[in-house]
Amino acid sequence: MKKKANKSMKILTDVACIVLAAGEGTRMNSEIPKVLHSIYGKTLIQYTLDTLRSLGIGKVVTVIGYKSKDVVKFIGSRSEIVIQEKLLGTADAVKQGIKKLSGFKGDVLVLCADAPLISNETLRALIEVSRKSKADCSVLTATIKNPTGYGRILRNDEGRVVKIIEEKDTSLYEKVIEEINTGVYCFKAKSLFDNIYKIKRNNIKREYYLTDIIEVLSLQDLKIDSYETLDVEEIIGINSRFELIQVHKIMRKRIVKRIIEGGVTIIDPDTVYIDENVEIGADTIIEPFVRIEKNVKIGKKCRLGPFLRIRPGSVIKDNVKLGNFVEIVRATIKSNSKVSHLAYIGDSQLGEKVNIGAGAVTANYNGKEKNMTIIGDNAFIGSGSILVAPVEIGKGAITGANSLVTKGKVRSGAVVVGVPAKEIKRKRETKKTNKGRSVK
Ligand code: UD1
Ligand code: CA
Repeated sequence: MKKKANKSMKILTDVACIVLAAGEGTRMNSEIPKVLHSIYGKTLIQYTLDTLRSLGIGKVVTVIGYKSKDVVKFIGSRSEIVIQEKLLGTADAVKQGIKKLSGFKGDVLVLCADAPLISNETLRALIEVSRKSKADCSVLTATIKNPTGYGRILRNDEGRVVKIIEEKDTSLYEKVIEEINTGVYCFKAKSLFDNIYKIKRNNIKREYYLTDIIEVLSLQDLKIDSYETLDVEEIIGINSRFELIQVHKIMRKRIVKRIIEGGVTIIDPDTVYIDENVEIGADTIIEPFVRIEKNVKIGKKCRLGPFLRIRPGSVIKDNVKLGNFVEIVRATIKSNSKVSHLAYIGDSQLGEKVNIGAGAVTANYNGKEKNMTIIGDNAFIGSGSILVAPVEIGKGAITGANSLVTKGKVRSGAVVVGVPAKEIKRKRETKKTNKGRSVK
């Protein structure tokens, strides 16, 4: 039934959640477990666990199985873990999950870790609806134009849900049903515990289907309710690469919307790709064709792009300009600095008001390890300079165009030129003040 959720209800103190994440993801044709595929810098399992955390659910049990040693690294302390030894289907996975819930008396939310777009508002609404109607089980449903692949919701003449039929088991008449099972359910703990073992192996796939619990409950006249989300995008479950890409597109729009709402101008959102956990300050302007990867923080009033890539671990302070054909990785750039054209800044710390000339490069990798480049406030790195790390450029120092600065330190205020770069003079004014030159 379509119902309006009541937001004021207090509901989450006695909710537990079982996350189904043991599957291999055969249809992905991948060696990576399905729930470890990433969307904008975050794995599918992390999306689900983050949503549950934002919902405030205290007790979360994640069922893992396929390549569990890899999957467990992405779960951390956010959830208890239980291993499903044999992948015998979604009902079997739930059986493993409830082992960690013995004695639990509240509501048990069950969801799949392959649907990262589901919002906490929708989960909250499902729980509220289920509690209000005192249902033994409530199913989250959606009505979609192309329901292929999803379990279909069967209702009786009174409109009550009586069964879920999997795609493989549908008749021609059932195939056209557009109301689908999203794979999210809210159970009364006891109703789940009492009935999960009654599910029999499905005939076609020889698996225990969690969806069969609906018929098990229905045949005992237990109460089944449903909540239909009108957001048909959020329920997409990822089974194939195609669906992964579909979700990528939706996620990108969501991320861009969040960033824009935070006060950032994105000239052409269709060409900007920002990872999920990136933070960008207000009044920053992003030109077309910009890629910003995970764990990047950008300050206010910056100008970014066009054609810019900022890679993980970079911190860009306020009013920084990063221009076209620039790559930044694991670098901190303090306020009012400029890297305007054709430059590579890796494993670096740039002070304030630093100017990096066109084509300058920090040579951070010597074939074995990465090394740091430190550039002091007001330093001016001439066009085409190559700074071979580890290297430190003092405050207000200048490197001439095309200079090759090898290991070591350029003193504050020094001017170095040539290949390899040699100091030719030292500016007098830097002795008195560190304000140094103005950067154009
Ligand atoms: C499932 C539902 C289907 C629903 C769809 C929504 C069943 C039988 N079908 O189908 O009605 O429309 O989700 O997206 O439940 N898993 C385990 N252990 C297993 C098998 C699966 O943990 O033994 C996990 C998977 O990792 C996955 C989730 O359960 O996260 C769902 O499994 P999947 O194979 O993707 O089910 P669907 O065919 O999509
Ligand atoms: Ca699925």
